Amino acid sequence: MNIVVGVTGGIAAYKTVHLVRLLTKSGHEVTVVPTEDALRFVGTPTWEALSRHPVTTSVHDDVARVRHVALGQNADLVIVAPATANTIAKITAGIADDLLGTTLLATEAPVLLAPAMHAEMWRNAATQANIATLVARGIHLIGPADGELAGGDSGPGRMVEPEQIAEAAHALLAPQDLAGLRVVVSAGGTREPIDPVRFLGNRSSGRQGAALASEAAARGAAVTLVAAHVSADVLAETRHPSLVVEPVGTAAELADVMKRVAVEADVIVMAAAVADYRPAEVAAQKLTKEAGPLTRIDLVENGDVVAALAAARSAGSAPAGQTIVAFAAETLPDPAERLERARRKRERKGVDLLAVNLVDAERGFESAENAVEVVGEGGAVVASAAGSKREVAQAILDAVAAVR
Ligand code: CTP
Repeated sequence: MNIVVGVTGGIAAYKTVHLVRLLTKSGHEVTVVPTEDALRFVGTPTWEALSRHPVTTSVHDDVARVRHVALGQNADLVIVAPATANTIAKITAGIADDLLGTTLLATEAPVLLAPAMHAEMWRNAATQANIATLVARGIHLIGPADGELAGGDSGPGRMVEPEQIAEAAHALLAPQDLAGLRVVVSAGGTREPIDPVRFLGNRSSGRQGAALASEAAARGAAVTLVAAHVSADVLAETRHPSLVVEPVGTAAELADVMKRVAVEADVIVMAAAVADYRPAEVAAQKLTKEAGPLTRIDLVENGDVVAALAAARSAGSAPAGQTIVAFAAETLPDPAERLERARRKRERKGVDLLAVNLVDAERGFESAENAVEVVGEGGAVVASAAGSKREVAQAILDAVAAVR
């Protein structure tokens, strides 16, 4: 999607740097339009490097391509963050004396404002009247938050955090095709303890599952994210009023939680990397070399969680029409062989869709990018996507919406 990020002259502009990163990481094309004043806080090179698009403030640049209206016409969303009291007043009056002003007048896309100013300026009758006018015109508002302001003051006027603005942006861009559905996503990798300090684990970061959960929430679903060892950083990007996180540790814990939440789920997406085996015995004390060398660990099998959920569905203990999606991270380099394996796995597990991706030293785990093919009914490839994990999540949820 094409997003214009307008930046106006407030200290919160430094936080917009992170917003631009979040949006580009999600696969959006971002064009930053600062005001002249905003450049006193954060300079052009920063915006150009992050957005990978040229940055100008004036309507007289790139006149041949009618940039002063084209940006607004081509935008799917315009965000102004921070939006100062002055800019809010200008937007209300329709003043277009710079590139951001013309872009805002020329756009028919949704506009999202993230105000930032001193509490007195926010409370001022002029600002409040302007805000009321803008909201009545259908402009979306996020914040301001209550908190510490520049100069040591505090009160309402603080720009909300970039993650919240990004989430609001995703919600404005997303179709509401999952509204009313309860979606459960598992993410991350289980850890099977060997002793109190060691475990058998895997390289799954939980980023793909977190992106699926965020995207499902943005598309209107009530989401439970069952998170196995997903880092706080990754979870921070999933904050959404209709998303709850259930942390788990081992495969057995994950199985228990999934069984509990699955009975009410319309859609289950098993993106977690679940250990197939666990140590037969967990040592109560740390294993030491003094106690003798450790040359083998006996393992016992964990049950297949997603296969059990599919079996429970067949037995009638799930909402009618429940959709189950499994994942398969494969190392087979040959695409045809990989697909054949994915087809067999889909049948074996009894799921509706199976998303298969190639993993190796560079791809799949821990990275921001992913590439998947989704195998559906009869083994047909019903979707494929490559790009950011958010883009991959969109394609997988499109496939879910299509089978429902
Ligand atoms: N899975 C699960 N329970 C397990 C192992 C895996 O629910 N004990 C789920 C994963 O969440 C994923 C899918 O099954 O959605 C694929 O897992 P994968 O490890 O690729 O499949 P396996 O059944 O382990 O097959 P194989 O080891 O032969 O590749």
